[in-house]
Amino acid sequence: MAIDETKLQHEYIEKCRQLITANGGAPLTYHVTTFGCQMNARDSEKLSGILKEIGYIETPDEESADFVIYNTCTVRDNANQKVYGHLGMLKARKKKNPDLCIALCGCMMQEESVIEIIREKYKFVNLVFGTHNLYKFAELLYRSLTSSSQIIDIWKDTDSIVEDLPVDRKYSFKSGINIMFGCNNFCSYCIVPYVRGRERSRDPKDIIREIEQLSRDGVVEVMLLGQNVNSYGKGLPDEMSFAELLKEVEKVEGIKRIRFMTSHPKDLSDELIEVMKDSKKICRQLHLPLQSGSDRLLKSMNRRYTKEQYLNLVDKIRTAIPDISITTDIIVGYPGETVEDVNETIDVIRKVGFDNAFTFIYSKRTGTPAASMPQLDPAFVKEQFNRVLTAVQEEADKRNGKLLGCIEEVLVEEINEHDAAMLSGRLSNASLVHFKGDAGLIGQLVKVRLNEAKGFYYIGEMIE
Ligand code: 5AD
Ligand code: SF4
Repeated sequence: MAIDETKLQHEYIEKCRQLITANGGAPLTYHVTTFGCQMNARDSEKLSGILKEIGYIETPDEESADFVIYNTCTVRDNANQKVYGHLGMLKARKKKNPDLCIALCGCMMQEESVIEIIREKYKFVNLVFGTHNLYKFAELLYRSLTSSSQIIDIWKDTDSIVEDLPVDRKYSFKSGINIMFGCNNFCSYCIVPYVRGRERSRDPKDIIREIEQLSRDGVVEVMLLGQNVNSYGKGLPDEMSFAELLKEVEKVEGIKRIRFMTSHPKDLSDELIEVMKDSKKICRQLHLPLQSGSDRLLKSMNRRYTKEQYLNLVDKIRTAIPDISITTDIIVGYPGETVEDVNETIDVIRKVGFDNAFTFIYSKRTGTPAASMPQLDPAFVKEQFNRVLTAVQEEADKRNGKLLGCIEEVLVEEINEHDAAMLSGRLSNASLVHFKGDAGLIGQLVKVRLNEAKGFYYIGEMIE
């Protein structure tokens, strides 16, 4: 089925190409705006790959683009509000230029209430599709280009994974790779399982084939992507653990760095810690979402671990891999949260000493179990949020600069935004480093002495 589908989509790419080049004018331009996580960023590379193959040209300037696409996120309500804000502005542009083509896709489109709003208030949007049929983008675009009405096509779920469609990578030297889609965890606050569907793992052979190809194309760093990578491999014809997959990825010649996200603490195995410890390629970085340090809340959130289990896990990881950076996600303001619950979270922050923590104010998501619980007073939440933020910053400050004076490998990523004589890159633990160097080094691993620690980044000097 998947091979036929790939062939079909390539046929639609060709059909679209013929349509858009038929009148012989200047090539059409496109701009994709991505909201949300790395999975969405990867999806946008797929959209971009298909559009380039069709013959569209990417423009960095949304204002002048002939085709505007929003790849949306819905994990918190402010992500939705941003999209509505942009649509308000696009309405005026479309009035002036009726040929402007607008498409919406991504997680927010999987919500029925959103689709109702788009049908009613945003009739000028040409094409709307969701997360499950993104691989049909060429086909949907063809339908849209040959129709004068709004095309909306949203699937509730899918069990298929379509391989070998075009991808346009943002960076030449590093790439995200989907290893699984969806999530089965149903944390009580989270909308992801409803909009991304059930967990499905990609066949390891397809993953390795893709990474081998990336390596041949010059990629040296890969980021394995999934909502819960630690449960990779469940349900495959030949079940395989995430740790086993990592061992296979490690064997790919030319790949020098391996990262992954996101890990769920309840599924992080001893086997994975062993593989990370022994690896020269797996980066010294682990994102391990805590969400809360209160056992009462963790239970209500359906996280399936306790504060003590989380702390023990961190201990085990730090004992095995002392130089690892650990980052986390924390939610403040979950229904029923008290000052004492927040104290428990702060206690974990202090005990673990996270290198960084993304702290979010709880956002009520319709359809999730937590949405029907009594919600907290926003002023109280803001106060608690600030307490958590202070603790996070104090702990991160203690850890910032811990590699001062060391010589470390840096993957050179780009010319520094503020000073063209400087390059910017990342350490294995994901810390940012700026140093003097030539743009020809972009994409290479170089040795840098870390001379100055400036908060969350270093200034260094390249060592021959
Ligand atoms: N409100 C606030 N934060 C949320 N997250 C997920 N759902 C919500 C929500 N309803 C956060 C979690 C998760 C991260 C990706 O987003 O911390 O780890
Ligand atoms: Fe959401 Fe929990 Fe799944 Fe993460 S593991 S995507 S927080 S349901």
